[in-house]
Amino acid sequence: MFLRKAWYVAAWDRELGAQPLALRILDENVVLFRQSDGTAAALEDACVHRKLPLSMGRVCGDTIECGYHGLRFSATGYCVHIPCSDTIPRGARVRSYPLVARYGLLWIWMGEPESARAEDIFQVEHWGDSRWGMTAGDAMTVDCNYLYMTDNLLDPSHVAWVHRSTFGNAACESTPVKVTATPQGMIAARWMRDVEIAPLYRRFVRFQGDCDRLQHYEVRFPCASLVRAVFVPAGSAGSEAQHHAEAFVMDSYNFLTPVDGGRTRYFWFQMRNVFPDDAQVSREMAEGVRTAFEEDRLILNAVQENFARTRTPHIDIAIDSAPLRFRRRLQQLIAAERADATDDGGAAAC
Ligand code: FES
Ligand SMILES: [Fe+2]
Repeated sequence: MFLRKAWYVAAWDRELGAQPLALRILDENVVLFRQSDGTAAALEDACVHRKLPLSMGRVCGDTIECGYHGLRFSATGYCVHIPCSDTIPRGARVRSYPLVARYGLLWIWMGEPESARAEDIFQVEHWGDSRWGMTAGDAMTVDCNYLYMTDNLLDPSHVAWVHRSTFGNAACESTPVKVTATPQGMIAARWMRDVEIAPLYRRFVRFQGDCDRLQHYEVRFPCASLVRAVFVPAGSAGSEAQHHAEAFVMDSYNFLTPVDGGRTRYFWFQMRNVFPDDAQVSREMAEGVRTAFEEDRLILNAVQENFARTRTPHIDIAIDSAPLRFRRRLQQLIAAERADATDDGGAAAC
């Protein structure tokens, strides 16, 4: 169900303070804690002794101390202290996970630690560019399987019905989507020409009148997404449109972390090419996006619930092409990863 060899967002960096933070990621219990130099670490959230969650203990210097009998574990997962004992048994270790702080987020690698490469973390194109502004970022838990969310993030058309007060309007109902497979994932995109600007964007677009609008919906394996919105004066659509002098561009970065098969932690932030230092614009954009994502949450929670309950078969329609192709390729990657793991296990057993 999950691709393990991937970077997932564990938490916003700012969420982790002096206390341990308990998380569930890909159906595993994980604890984050901060070492004395501020570096964050991630361990399996179960003491090697009697399995009390380490998150119920406390942070002591560079270690986390179990709240039951005081065993202490370093960021590597090795037990480094056992009260009333001069020796530490072999095997006194909990699993540790590679963890990297980037873009204000803590990224966790859920595969074998030796296969983790920080350069594989999602690239944010304009990060650090002073001409771009950004929102502070936000998060929510959605009560659905993460694949309903990748469906959603490869489906530009839904804004016409789900987001009429924010991202969409009637102009988004009927323009066909072009689907492109990339080595990293899938893109569903379309230009809508000579249309009204949708409500959420009116505040940020600087030109008057109608627009040409690009919706670029991209999801990369397993579940990280870039949604790019480009607005240019009507008649200016095209491959160079985002460089138009009056173009408004909003890049929405969306990172999905499966909690388990029925829940997903959703992290996001937005970058924009206008008003880079305007805190009020950042706040308004953040509020608008939050409102829109609450609209998604309502839909996705209900979709999950009904897929689990109803017995009648469902149909697929033209707009499902990108989501379905993405799912198929992701399933192939997951199957290949499992086959590799089985081969490794067999080899180890021999
Ligand atoms: S359960 Fe953790 S020290 Fe005993
Ligand atoms: Fe949406």
